[in-house]
Amino acid sequence: MMDRVSATRLRLGILGSGKGSNFVAIADALASGQAAAEVALVLSDVPDAGILGHARARGIESAYLPPGRFRTKLDEEAEAAWIGALRSARVDLVVLAGFMRILKGEFLRAFDGRVMNIHPSLLPAFPGLEAWRQALEYGAKVAGCTVHLVDQGIDTGPILAQRAVPVLDGDNAASLHQRIQAAERELYPAVVAAWARGDIRVRGRVTSGFRAGA
Ligand code: GRF
Repeated sequence: MMDRVSATRLRLGILGSGKGSNFVAIADALASGQAAAEVALVLSDVPDAGILGHARARGIESAYLPPGRFRTKLDEEAEAAWIGALRSARVDLVVLAGFMRILKGEFLRAFDGRVMNIHPSLLPAFPGLEAWRQALEYGAKVAGCTVHLVDQGIDTGPILAQRAVPVLDGDNAASLHQRIQAAERELYPAVVAAWARGDIRVRGRVTSGFRAGA
């Protein structure tokens, strides 16, 4: 049976604004042969973002691309440049790894159903910024992370996989964030590998096919 990777390796474009621990986890899992996929390009909107250094250290093509005049999204000119760079690198799947801008309109049309994100909560609880702090302040006893496809909303796209972690007595924002990030570094590479294998099916909001530990 043909699957989406039988002919060629899935090419990932990874977008990040920060330290890049999710990128490192994904790149290293793929380098160890976990799936027929490779990181083709890393882009950042922050010139000195850690993610760019991690990409360079691994010999992966990477670039800072200016985001344009807005603070929370790409402006039209920048959006065209980002789409162009990803298309030139023949990217099949866009993976957001700590990318701090909202992607909409043209960008989502260019990569329709092929933009993935990880969010540090069990969605739909606590969308938006500093979700681990929101969970702690709300008094939740279970927190976690969610890998989802990106749609026009904020953290509202179809859920691909989730991993729960406990909120412990005495946790502060930093300790809970660290526990969630450790879960992220396991979950995200596993979901990308499952996608590359063609295991994941998407029907509207409901997805299937990801098995933890597969
Ligand atoms: C992660 O905690 C992720 O949930 C959020 O941004 C953070 C990125 O961290 N979307 P890193 O840059 O991958 O280390």
